[in-house]
Amino acid sequence: MSDDVVAVPEAARRASNCSDADYQALYDRSLNDSEAFWLEQARRIEWIKAPTVAGNWSFDDRVDIKWFEDGQLNACWNCVDRHAITTPDRLALIFEPDEPDAETRQITYAQMRADIARFGNALLAMGVERGDRVTIYMPMVPEAIYAMLACARIGAVHSVVFGGFSPEALRGRIEDCDSRFVITADAGRRGGRDIPLKANVDAALDGGAPVSGVMTVRVTGADVAMTEGRDRWYHEAVAAVDDDCPCVPMNAEDPLFILYTSGSTGKPKGVLHTTGGYMVWTALTFAYAFDHKEDDIFFCTADVGWITGHSYVAYGPLACGATQLIFEGVPNYPDESRFWAITEKHKVSILYTAPTAIRALMREGPEPVKKHDRSSLRILGTVGEPINPEAWRWYRNTVGNSRVPVVDTWWQTETGGIMLTTLPGAHDMKPGWAGLPMFGVRPLLVDNDGQRIEGTAEGNLCISRSWPGQARTVYGDHARFRQTYFSTYEGLYFTGDGARRDENGYYRITGRVDDVINVSGHRMGTAEIESALVLHDQVAEAAVVGFPHEVKGQGIYCYVTTNAGVDMTADLEAELRQHVRKEIGPVATPDHIHLTPALPKTRSGKIMRRILRKIAEGDTKSLGDTSTLADPGVVASLIENRRPA
Ligand code: PRX
Repeated sequence: MSDDVVAVPEAARRASNCSDADYQALYDRSLNDSEAFWLEQARRIEWIKAPTVAGNWSFDDRVDIKWFEDGQLNACWNCVDRHAITTPDRLALIFEPDEPDAETRQITYAQMRADIARFGNALLAMGVERGDRVTIYMPMVPEAIYAMLACARIGAVHSVVFGGFSPEALRGRIEDCDSRFVITADAGRRGGRDIPLKANVDAALDGGAPVSGVMTVRVTGADVAMTEGRDRWYHEAVAAVDDDCPCVPMNAEDPLFILYTSGSTGKPKGVLHTTGGYMVWTALTFAYAFDHKEDDIFFCTADVGWITGHSYVAYGPLACGATQLIFEGVPNYPDESRFWAITEKHKVSILYTAPTAIRALMREGPEPVKKHDRSSLRILGTVGEPINPEAWRWYRNTVGNSRVPVVDTWWQTETGGIMLTTLPGAHDMKPGWAGLPMFGVRPLLVDNDGQRIEGTAEGNLCISRSWPGQARTVYGDHARFRQTYFSTYEGLYFTGDGARRDENGYYRITGRVDDVINVSGHRMGTAEIESALVLHDQVAEAAVVGFPHEVKGQGIYCYVTTNAGVDMTADLEAELRQHVRKEIGPVATPDHIHLTPALPKTRSGKIMRRILRKIAEGDTKSLGDTSTLADPGVVASLIENRRPA
């Protein structure tokens, strides 16, 4: 291997549950004796009725994916009740509030079981039935996880919407899955600021979505309006019921949750995950990628509004009976040492966070890190976007004292769990490279014509066979599922990412090859932002592209043409920025609004996005072929007025 390889630390190798030889043997079996391998792995989960078949899937024509289809189980039972029986006093959750002086909560598996069972009964009392969709719009408090697991307990399908989305975006997601119930909080607290969640729900529902029940958890004590007949307080609802709430037997292929995510076209898609395969996949990947041990304190910094908060907060760790820390706040509040203060205070042994947080904290220098004891750390993980080698090295050397392994885990909302990573005690690391495929994962690189490329190469990343955690469909639109993921390259799942492969079979993700951008690890469709912009009555046309951003990974650059007679002023730019926040939410706030009289188009009227990307990147020397431009003058003017000036 080349010299930028970092050897697996000796201590990690000795402590590891899985050596490289073990990995190889398991990986080979997972492909060559797949049925037996997966039926064996399925035993990580307690089944009401054990499955007798593993995979039954096809990526052709209809695209039909099933795993463990004759099995029956309950996800909440697996994450909670079974541990409440065997290890009732083990801590399941340690809750660290936004304000460091506020009280930490420590919740055992036994207590969590009782709380979730009450929550389940409260949902039943509100009228929620098996199969109903329940929208969850919550801050990062234990009740957010309770809400998800309470749904799973009674067979309801949750759809968590990130608290950084606006009422408009929330309404779209409630309507799309025809969700008649919402669980929210009076407000959320992040970085010392309140987020008016209940007021946002009220605003979303004012638009007419037919929601019959809203359950509100009191978190901050903020004043909120309660609508008679529709709204109820969580603390009152759970006080009125007992904690005897059976876990409903679910079929392996019954839906567990929907999670909306952005693509290159159209509105966000409701990615649907089912129960059996997802549980096996998250339990397995959690156990291996983090080399999990009983006494670990696992801290994943993701919000439950994203897939990482589903697979590596709510489901994977709890399925393994882990103790995990959840954090309400942000990495830089009250100051930049917060992650490290938490690590010291709670003796965190595994930290899992996003490159954007690492880059932001790296800018503060080593002092905020060094002033806290981090000797409890055993493994560091990253997820969500490509990590630049400089940030990787800072993470390992400064945070990890050059001592602990770093795992760079690549996966997606649609993959349900980790797909590419090194295993911490088994594999050498290569900064910027995610690494090797997880068991059962068969990655492939193809060129733009769909030809497979072998050996060391760069291409479009596809997966050639199904794995248990794979999404099954787009809620209510299977044709879109097929079209989005299986039509680009026949018979293959196309990830939308580009990747390189080295001589040892390690993969490095180079980023999206479609019109999706990744801003601070948040996935966003440029088409969505464009749709939001053109809703404004002074906007004629909009084209949105990403550009490299030192901290966020990518920033949002919007080119906007206005209707005739509208003045292109700084005020209008500010107004459009606000407008996008209102339509989508603060997560989609544009970095730059570039008002322009015209967009570069081909003579047939197609916007030349490639040129817009180059200008946004500041790479105006190599615009490539501009001979098809209808009006070359447009490009010169865009370059001259590029933001920031
Ligand atoms: O582009 C890849 C990037 O995030 C995309 C998936 O986004 P989402 O569904 O929101 O899930 C994020 C958390 C799993 C991918 O298509 N991505 C994710 N992890 C990595 C990554 N890019 C590079 N390296 C990673 N480790």
